[in-house]
Amino acid sequence: MWDPDAYKRALDFAAKAHGAQTVPGGGFPYVVHLTKVAAEVMRACAEDEGLDATLAVTCALLHDSVEDAGVSREQLVGAFGAKVADGVEALTKRESVPKPERMLDSLARIAAQPREIAIVKLADRITNLEPAPPQWSAEKRAAYREEAKQILDALQGRCAWLEARLAQKIAEYAV
Ligand code: NI
Repeated sequence: MWDPDAYKRALDFAAKAHGAQTVPGGGFPYVVHLTKVAAEVMRACAEDEGLDATLAVTCALLHDSVEDAGVSREQLVGAFGAKVADGVEALTKRESVPKPERMLDSLARIAAQPREIAIVKLADRITNLEPAPPQWSAEKRAAYREEAKQILDALQGRCAWLEARLAQKIAEYAV
C-alpha cells in the first residue's frame, strides 16, 4: 500500500509546481489531471501487490513536473530521492530529440525503469483518452489513438490490469 504522507507531500509539491496551470481543454486546475492518474495507479497497486505503491503514486503525482512545470532533476532528487527523479525523468519527453521520435525515445527509457514507472505512463494515457477537445481534427484524434497503441505495445507485461484498461479506452476512443 502507498504511504499517505508520501502522497500528500508529492501532491503539495506538484500543486505548487504547476501553480495556475490548467488541464488543456478542461479548464480544471492541473492537479485534477495528476490525481486522476494517481487514482488509476492506486487501483493498479491494489490489483497487483507486487508493485511498490509509494514509488508509483509519487511518480504519478510528479510525472509532468519536469516537462510542464520546469522542475529540475536536482529538486526532485532533493525532495524525493534518485529513484523518483529517475522515473520522472524517463516520463519526460526530451526537447533535444526530434518531435516525431520523442514519444518512442521516452518509452524506451521508461521500459528500462522499474515497472512502477511504466504503469504511470499507462495510467496517464488512460486518463488522457477522455473525449478529445472539440477543436481537434479527426486526423489528430487518429494520431493520438495510434500513439496510445504504441504506448501499450512498448510497455507490454508491466501490469495486466492497466493494460486491459488502456486497450478498452483505445477501443472506445472516438476518432
Ligand atoms: Ni500527464
